[in-house]
Amino acid sequence: MNVLVTGGAGYIGSHCCKELAAQGFRPVVFDDLSKGHRENLRWGEFYQGTTGSRQDLAECLDRHRIEAVMHFAAFIEVGESVADPAAYYRNNVCGSLNLLQAMVQRGIRRLVFSSSAAVYGNPARVPIDEEHARAPLSPYGWSKQMVETLLADFDVAWGLRAVALRYFNAAGADASAEIGEQHTPESHLIPRLLDAAMAGSPVEIYGTDYATPDGTCIRDYIHVTDLARAHVAALEHLLNGRPSGAFNLGQGRGFSVREVIHKTMEITGRPIQVRTAARRPGDAPMLIASNEKARRELGWTPRHSDLENILATAWQWHQRIRR
Ligand code: UFG
Repeated sequence: MNVLVTGGAGYIGSHCCKELAAQGFRPVVFDDLSKGHRENLRWGEFYQGTTGSRQDLAECLDRHRIEAVMHFAAFIEVGESVADPAAYYRNNVCGSLNLLQAMVQRGIRRLVFSSSAAVYGNPARVPIDEEHARAPLSPYGWSKQMVETLLADFDVAWGLRAVALRYFNAAGADASAEIGEQHTPESHLIPRLLDAAMAGSPVEIYGTDYATPDGTCIRDYIHVTDLARAHVAALEHLLNGRPSGAFNLGQGRGFSVREVIHKTMEITGRPIQVRTAARRPGDAPMLIASNEKARRELGWTPRHSDLENILATAWQWHQRIRR
C-alpha cells in the first residue's frame, strides 16, 4: 500500500518512513525541503512539493496512487508562532485543509495526523489523559487544535477517518544513527545539551523556581522510534475499520531539566556548563502523558524510551553529524 508521508524528510517523518518500509508499506515522501533534509530521503519515492499548493498535492496523490496519508508537514517552533502567527496558520492549518480536500476528492479516507501535547496548554492535572480540556498557549498549539477540529468535521461530512497523535517531547534517534534530530535553529533541550557537551559551551536552564521538586520544568520524553511504531499501529487501526480518535504518546513518566542534564553528562562522559536564566514564556511546569489509551486501543507500548537510551541514541547521532 502506498502511504503519503508529508514532511517525510523531517525528524519524526523520516523515522516513520523507515518503520513503514519495515512493515511492508510503501512510503511516498511529500516535502518542500524548507525544514526537512534531503539525506533523510532513504525510504520510498520522493515528491518535492508544498501543502500550500493544491496542484502539488493533486499531482502527487494521483501520480503515486496514494491510499492513506501520514501528515507531519508543519512549522514547530512555539516562540516563532507567537511572533508570526500568520505563517503558522497558513502553513499548518491552510496546508492541512488543502491536503484533506485533496484526499476526500480522491476518496482517500485514512489519515494519521502529527498533533502535539501543546493542545492541552498548562494542564490542570497530570498525568494528562485525552479527555483533558484543550487550551493551547500559542498559535502553534492552536494550529494543531484547529486541524484536529477539521478532522472531526471531515469525518462527519465525508467519512474521512483520522487518528491524531499528541506527542509529548519527541527525542532520541534511530539506533543505526542514520537519521536523527536536526533543527535550525535548535531550541530543544536534549540536542542543545549534546551541543554543549561537544563544544564545551554553556546551556541555560529556563527557570529554577517552578513548583517542582528541583524547581525546573518536568517533561515526558518519548523516543522517536516509539513514535514511529505508534504511527504504523494507528494506520493499522484505521485500516482495520476502527473509528477516528486522538491518542497521547508519552512514556508516562517525567524528568526535570536538571535530571536530564545530569543524565546527559553521565552518558556523554563530558561536563556541561549550566547557567540559570529566566523562565521561558509559555512553558508549563509539568507535562506528563497518560498513555493508557494508546496501550489499550492501539496495542502500543513504549520500548525505547528510557532516558538512557534516548540520550545514548541521540548522542550517537549527534557525534556523527557534528563531526
Ligand atoms: N529548556 C531549557 N533550556 C534550553 C531549552 C529548553 O531549560 O536551552 C527547558 C524548557 O524550558 C522546557 C524543557 O527544557 O522546560 C524542554 O524544552 P524543549 O524546548 O525541549 O521542549 P518543550 O517542552 O518546550 O516543547 C515540546 C515540543 C513542542 C510542544 C511542547 C508542548 O517540542 O513542539 O512540547 O507540548 F509544543
